[in-house]
Amino acid sequence: MIALEKATKPLKGDIFVPGDKSISHRSIMFGALSKGTTEVTGFLESADCLSTIECFKRLGVEIEHALRPLNGVPTITVHGNGLHNFKAPTSTLYTGNSGTTTRLMSGILAAQPFDSVITGDMSICKRPMNRIITPLSQMGAEVTSVMGNDCTPLKFTGGKHLHGISYRSPVASAQVKSCIMLAGLYAEGDSVVFEPALSRNHTEIMLSAFGADIHNEFSRDGSAVCILHPGMPLTGQKINVPGDISSAAYFIAAALIVPGSEILIRNVGINKTRAGILAVLEQMGADITLLNVDESNEPRADLLVRYSELHGNENHQFVIGGKVIPTMIDELPVVAVLAATADCDTIIKDAAELKVKESNRIETVVSGLRKMGCDIEATDDGMIIHGGNPLKGADINSHADHRLAMSFAIASLVAEGTTRIIDNECVGISYPTFFKDLQGLR
Ligand code: S3P
Repeated sequence: MIALEKATKPLKGDIFVPGDKSISHRSIMFGALSKGTTEVTGFLESADCLSTIECFKRLGVEIEHALRPLNGVPTITVHGNGLHNFKAPTSTLYTGNSGTTTRLMSGILAAQPFDSVITGDMSICKRPMNRIITPLSQMGAEVTSVMGNDCTPLKFTGGKHLHGISYRSPVASAQVKSCIMLAGLYAEGDSVVFEPALSRNHTEIMLSAFGADIHNEFSRDGSAVCILHPGMPLTGQKINVPGDISSAAYFIAAALIVPGSEILIRNVGINKTRAGILAVLEQMGADITLLNVDESNEPRADLLVRYSELHGNENHQFVIGGKVIPTMIDELPVVAVLAATADCDTIIKDAAELKVKESNRIETVVSGLRKMGCDIEATDDGMIIHGGNPLKGADINSHADHRLAMSFAIASLVAEGTTRIIDNECVGISYPTFFKDLQGLR
């Protein structure tokens, strides 16, 4: 538990947030699947990404994760096994709290010559896996949910011959898309995934840098399409992971709501499939300036954020929905906190995916903000936030959801009295030094 008080003065400072979680996971996975050495700088040393490292070590991949400096920069080195040289694990692979590890690894395990079982913590064991079991089975894999509930543990039968599929995913999910693409590396024929909107495209960007023939298109009906032609050799790369915009989002929000604040957040990934929060907040009147923009394949910039009074349209409304949702899905809890302080009604819609994250984030965000005095209602696919009520401190259960713990820590900055966050240690899943960094800005 951590007790937090309202901020009594503006937040000021210059900060680096830790490396991007999605990119860090992929750097280990794709490094393992390649021939040669992959050197990763800026890697996120958090519980989720360490789960990925552990799983690949169990498959016989040599990974030096002591963050030994190479030319003075802490570096993770992955000595790739290539697609076909993994070792059969001697017991169940454990993915902790990490949905990305679970779903992406499943694409790889489904194609191995050996049997394996994968499972995670209590939260993972409740998250839907039918979204990957269905397409993997269509590809010829044998994947079973051991408890018969479409959740982990998942058992993979080895030695199946996979073939490419054309799959229409009902949800825009990078985890589903990436799982199919990774299985597709082993399949005969092309693998094609249609999704209703483009989800984060880190797999496409990074796998093609490793040598894969993979790209995105848009179909005439507006669906996003991802196409992989297998067979190209994958070769180890040097990866420099930018700061995670999902972690930066907490400090963006902090600067926007505490009067007089000004925070410079350095080296943040601004890939368009992740940066929906910037576009949405700009429309709500946020003062965010991008400095030192670097247009590399994973673009990045320094974000200068100043306190701003957020607002809606002339009817005091603001709607967040449609194709922007997948580009800010993990940021919606902290955006809800911002909306609670804004002088308008904010409608978040088309976001039913929030129900199947680390917690049911429609329920957990709505109940927490209501406890703090916000006028808020849950809907089937999001929430309606009647902003502007003063927030008051409350005891908030994080439900072991890292994004909840951090979002409510930001709400505490403007809440009268003390906010206690129960189970705050879960920030270690994506941002182990979060509370220390927040304290530094105070
Ligand atoms: C992720 C994709 C998203 C996101 C998660 C990380 C990834 O999940 O919520 O935190 O790294 O591919 P979905 O693909 O299930 O939307």
